[in-house]
Amino acid sequence: MKEAAAALLDAVARESESRALEPEAYAKEVARLERVRGRPLFFPLLMGGVGRGARVRLADGTTKIDFIGGIGVYGFGHSDRDLLETAVVAAAADTAFQGHLAPGPEYQRVSKALLRHAGKRLRHAWLSVSGAMANENALKMILQKRAPADRMLVFENGFAGRTTTLAELTDRPAFREGLPLRGNVLHVPFYDPSDLQSTERSLAALDAHLARYPGQVAGMLFELVQGEGGFKTAPREFFVPLMERCREHGVAVWVDEVQTFARTGELYAFRTLGLEGYVDLVTVGKVLQGSAVLFSRAYNPRAGLIAGTYAGATSAMAVGARIIERLEEDNYLGPEGRIAILERRVERRFESLERRLPRAVGPRSGIGAMQAFVPFGGQADVVKDVIDVAFEEGLIVFPAGRSPCKIRMLLPVNTTDEELEAAFTILEKALARVAEDRGLPC
Ligand SMILES: Cc1ncc(COP(=O)(O)O)c(C=O)c1O
Repeated sequence: MKEAAAALLDAVARESESRALEPEAYAKEVARLERVRGRPLFFPLLMGGVGRGARVRLADGTTKIDFIGGIGVYGFGHSDRDLLETAVVAAAADTAFQGHLAPGPEYQRVSKALLRHAGKRLRHAWLSVSGAMANENALKMILQKRAPADRMLVFENGFAGRTTTLAELTDRPAFREGLPLRGNVLHVPFYDPSDLQSTERSLAALDAHLARYPGQVAGMLFELVQGEGGFKTAPREFFVPLMERCREHGVAVWVDEVQTFARTGELYAFRTLGLEGYVDLVTVGKVLQGSAVLFSRAYNPRAGLIAGTYAGATSAMAVGARIIERLEEDNYLGPEGRIAILERRVERRFESLERRLPRAVGPRSGIGAMQAFVPFGGQADVVKDVIDVAFEEGLIVFPAGRSPCKIRMLLPVNTTDEELEAAFTILEKALARVAEDRGLPC
């Protein structure tokens, strides 16, 4: 079977080699797609054919180093042979999607793989297709269990997803412009490393909400590394008192790991931070190739609350399970695992970039395979320029956060030294060019 899959993949690779649009045709395709979507693309980027590792192949036959991966979709980079073979074999079994009514072996395999790392408290996994859907399911479970409590605590600058309700849990006014609001979201400041009283301040805000709405707060959403918010994280000592307070008050501790999943050194950031004793529900997505909510027995909902047609694509579930197995088998996890080592390798690259362009490279943040830095003080239009020039030169990165705005990287966990070297050479070039164009010191 593996051989048949390999033969198919070879044929697809050969075919894709011979298919490349001329620059003019490529530009027309981009414009056509933008018209169809009714929205511009962030980058003039159409994928086309077989990529390799961190390199994505575009429809014009060129390649770029992809350090954002569709905002975190490609944990092992592009066209990973083992994952493609897994996908092809799984896809050949039946039609593309599996529903919750007729789960197949891939459904079992990915659910079990997720629970293997979830610790003792989280006993169940419910699959879905997007991070937003997993979050909606988590929210429903929390609200049902804690009814009639209907208020939710969230961190300032957090992001939860794109449904109408999640847009309200997300602290970005532009993401909910024009939407009706329910007004039941309560904000707590996130960790601020420059404030020695940061933990006390957040705890005081939490206490004030609990005192103002006694018995009415259902849950608290913890995004342990803020993704959209700028790859900000906090030490364990910040989260523990907040989670303890939630538990004292029967407030559900819900960890959103849609972006952190498989990136922080363990499968879950709550394990990297040693918080497994506190978590009631966790949601995952992106690198998984689907999504899920994992939950403790106490949050198992009553019949009728969660369902939905799709559990996921069969090939995506098989690939998601295989990704977890690869992380386990090939030593990616743990304090000395390959993700932790990648973090140190990236750190060294940044240090050397900073030595050469000290005024262009500001503070760094992130953990494991999610890394960010503030270029030139973090003014959004300058950051966008750097990102655009980097794209032109062959590197794909993306913004995160506001004031300061950062450049973020969601690196493949198997990024090679050659890819890092090439990416940082381009980044340096982009920073230097923007400095020159705008007359900025670097
Ligand atoms: C922390 C977090 N939660 C939820 C989501 C929503 O996931 P999706 O876009 O798959 O619906 C995202 C996506 O960026 C995310 O980063």
